[in-house]
Amino acid sequence: MSKRIDSTRRRVLQGVAGTAALGALPRYALAQAAPVKIGLILPMTGPFASTGKQITAACKLYMERNGDTVAGRKVELIVKDDTGIAPETTKRIAQEMVVQDKVTVLAGFGLTPLAFAAAPVATEAKVPMVVMAAGTQVIPQRSPFIVRTSFTLPQNTAPIASWAAKNKIKRVFSLVTDYGPGLDAEKTFFERFKAAGGEIVESVRTPLRNPDYAPFLQRAKDSKAEAFFVFVPSGEGLALMKQFDERGLRQAGMKMIGPGDVVDDDVLESQGAPAVGVITSMHYSAAHDSPENKAYVAAMIKNNPGMRPNFHSVGGYDGLHLIYEALKKVPNGNGEQMVEAMKGMKWTSPRGPMSIDPATRDVVQTVYLREVKMVNGQPWNIEFDKVENVGPGG
Ligand code: PHB
Repeated sequence: MSKRIDSTRRRVLQGVAGTAALGALPRYALAQAAPVKIGLILPMTGPFASTGKQITAACKLYMERNGDTVAGRKVELIVKDDTGIAPETTKRIAQEMVVQDKVTVLAGFGLTPLAFAAAPVATEAKVPMVVMAAGTQVIPQRSPFIVRTSFTLPQNTAPIASWAAKNKIKRVFSLVTDYGPGLDAEKTFFERFKAAGGEIVESVRTPLRNPDYAPFLQRAKDSKAEAFFVFVPSGEGLALMKQFDERGLRQAGMKMIGPGDVVDDDVLESQGAPAVGVITSMHYSAAHDSPENKAYVAAMIKNNPGMRPNFHSVGGYDGLHLIYEALKKVPNGNGEQMVEAMKGMKWTSPRGPMSIDPATRDVVQTVYLREVKMVNGQPWNIEFDKVENVGPGG
């Protein structure tokens, strides 16, 4: 009996000695794991505010469904508005989040120049940076700590280029916004479409800030091309569609095609009837027919009346999923270990199957061909074909 007590006591004492050997760890760390702080930097105001609203709503839904603790650690979302237009603001917020808030992960990034601005901060601080929105292909090369859950423009453009060539479209007028994602979309479309025998009759680029589409639309109309290829960033599609309709391009029979940003679900209801017939390729439609997506759309609309979830929202939802799953694998992992844990991760999103390519830390996913159709009096992007496992290069 006394021998047993002795050995128990010895084990306890050994345990205490083992604990003491952990040295520098603060005492409370043993009783209570440190919180996971996710620093979300997004445009919540300004011309790209819909991106921030969609992503924060989706992150909140993810936490509502999956709990606000993971691997025994409390999850805290810190949301900061970078207003979407000034890269130096995004960089300053990222620095503050790293130094003052001591965030575990940086996330969000509504536009390419903003993701570029934050990348050196992630590298220096060795903090994972989950890109939930921006789509220029080169982004993950800017830091080994970047992992992307959104999409790339080559990925979303290659399928529409093949579709156009196969569907008797020979002559195309192209209009893209003059910055990273627009240039990616233009390059991918031109290469693939020309290789399949197509011709680009004219190509124009419009500024990111305060674009005026009118003169370009007149040129497009005069060109008598069969199709109008377009990339504008989410939200911009509203003004573009209105002018396309008002200037009679649609009525002249010119088919609008492109990656799906121009018929973003956030603005599609406001675009209304003029959007009907637009054919795009994209990784997400709110009309995607799967049980996961039906439940997702219903929950998003219930939580945010009047807001139809768009492709940016799933970038946020899946970004949180990636962070939660990485923490389950390495509960107290440092930045490098978390990024390692994210590589190769595979799951079923509301958008369909997706994974993180371990070599590029970029997203691999199904891209769907869709046509805008009226269903019960509302326009939706109705999927009619798909290309599986499309990598970041398209
Ligand atoms: C981007 O800036 O990377 C971006 C923004 C909105 C989009 C696509 C790409 O719809």
